Amino acid sequence: MPKKAHLIAGLLATLMIATFFLATILVESFGSHEAVAAVKSLIVLPGLFILVPAIAATGGSGFYLSKSRQGRLVDAKKKRMPFIAANGLFVLIPCAIVLDRLAAAGEFNTAFNTVQALELVAGAANLTLMGMNIRGGLRLSGRLRPNL
Ligand code: HEM
Repeated sequence: MPKKAHLIAGLLATLMIATFFLATILVESFGSHEAVAAVKSLIVLPGLFILVPAIAATGGSGFYLSKSRQGRLVDAKKKRMPFIAANGLFVLIPCAIVLDRLAAAGEFNTAFNTVQALELVAGAANLTLMGMNIRGGLRLSGRLRPNL
């Protein structure tokens, strides 16, 4: 059961960040200011209210699973998790809230662009780390061939 929960929470969290990332790039490239404001608002609500519990559940269930598993792959996943969590808590969440407020006020200015750039870089970093954790996890569970 914790294994299934970990799989679902991990994939859901990664999919959420990928969706926020892609929706942001698409709407800011092709959408109106109103559409950008709508996407920025949806990322905060319900987005963050799904993402934060999903990341917490992934970390919690991952550490639980690691009690009965050891080795290089588990160690690497454990080391990545604090970066994923800190990046989410201290960069992605504040950025999403600030961007939502600025967009709702119609302030598509330098501050918006700077925070947006920071959010995209942090999002890409988390997607990379989470992707590496998925690959390591699938190797641990035997769904992917081990990297010999
Ligand atoms: C965002 C972070 C993470 C993601 C996206 C993630 C994703 C995954 C995925 C997709 C699997 C394969 C599950 C399956 O095939 O049934 C897995 C397995 C596993 N993960 Fe994670 N994981 C994350 C964090 C962690 C952390 C922090 C730990 C703790 C060290 C951890 C420990 C494990 C273990 C031990 C397994 C193997 C379970 C088994 O087959 O016995 N994961 N993970």
